[in-house]
Amino acid sequence: IKTIDGLDVAGKRVLVRADLNVPVEAGVVADATRIERVLPTIEALRKGGAKIVLISHFGRPKGERSPETSLRPVAAKLKDLLGTDVLFLDDCVGPDVEAAVAALKDGDVALLENLRYHAGETKNDIGFAKQLAALGDLYVDDAFSCAHRAHASVEAIARLMPAYAGMAMMAEINALSAALEDPKRPVMAVVGGAKVSTKIEVLTNLAQRMDMIVVGGGMANTFLFADGIDVGKSLCEPDFVATVKDITEKAKASGCEIVLPVDVVVATSLAEGVETSVCGVGDVPADTMALDQGPKSVALLKEKLAGAKTILWNGPLGAFEIAPFGEATFALAKEAARRSKDGTLISVAGGGDTVRALNEAGAADDFTYISTAGGAFLEWLAGKTLPGIAVLAGNPAPTRSAVA
Ligand code: 3PG
Repeated sequence: IKTIDGLDVAGKRVLVRADLNVPVEAGVVADATRIERVLPTIEALRKGGAKIVLISHFGRPKGERSPETSLRPVAAKLKDLLGTDVLFLDDCVGPDVEAAVAALKDGDVALLENLRYHAGETKNDIGFAKQLAALGDLYVDDAFSCAHRAHASVEAIARLMPAYAGMAMMAEINALSAALEDPKRPVMAVVGGAKVSTKIEVLTNLAQRMDMIVVGGGMANTFLFADGIDVGKSLCEPDFVATVKDITEKAKASGCEIVLPVDVVVATSLAEGVETSVCGVGDVPADTMALDQGPKSVALLKEKLAGAKTILWNGPLGAFEIAPFGEATFALAKEAARRSKDGTLISVAGGGDTVRALNEAGAADDFTYISTAGGAFLEWLAGKTLPGIAVLAGNPAPTRSAVA
């Protein structure tokens, strides 16, 4: 993959694909993490004397324009963070945009309106990609979190012009490779979340690569149920018992230990202030559901973590959004953060919920790397080829469909 390191950009128009799909509330950016991640690339290009043209999607507008899906609030935030003017253009292709881009001076920054206002974007349409390519001399992709989308601004465009990976893209690729492809062992994966059915490929791939997988969230119930354990009213997917058995077999064959809870926190419903109790996994009362892992499970996880050199985390252990069901997640997160700070653990986490949980635990800052990606992080964990990266590496897949 070619990077922007040492690239001569003086006087060139550089199209930068960023992921500026950030939470906006009442017209104001509520979490600027993704914007902050792209700043080093923008700053390096400005320093090099480039004219920077930022492109991004925002939400899923399906071609309809509306203030809720406009990137305008992001331009305001970018201006604050960069400490320089950001020219916002209310479209991303066409003669007016071309004229405005042609008028940029070296070091100027422009942000174009939501790419998904044009149907060609999600269709990976080559004609639309050509219109975008007309706006730049070089293309820089700094949006790892969009790399799983074979969309025009991610994939087709990179076949039309000199294409490079930006600094945030390289940081993501390097951190994720270090945890998944060539980790310091033993390596522990934590895979949580409600349903096995949404993470079959992730679990299957990790079972063949990790030394340990901690199964958390509702998924753990399906694993326990597959072992013949009664899970009461807990969230469980009996239809996926065969899948779980297959994953367990694969793990066994490659020497990967699957770690399941030994005790759980149960309640009759998932609600704030509800009465809770702790019981062994074999003793869940018929009218209750497991909503978090219990203290013995947490002790076990800490013990397992003590033997690990890398942790790769996606998904919470319990229903952390509602107190007190975040305790196990927070306890493990704090321990991983402490060890990371000590320099004895490499910790990589990703996915919207996970990052929220780590933030709530006050652990995120000490993690080695937090990915800003959701879907792309999961596809990477599942071992899939991400079209946005394949094309940068010079290996675009011949045909593909685009989803959004
Ligand atoms: C994300 O938020 O994961 C990325 O911005 C991709 O968005 P999408 O799922 O709408 O393609």
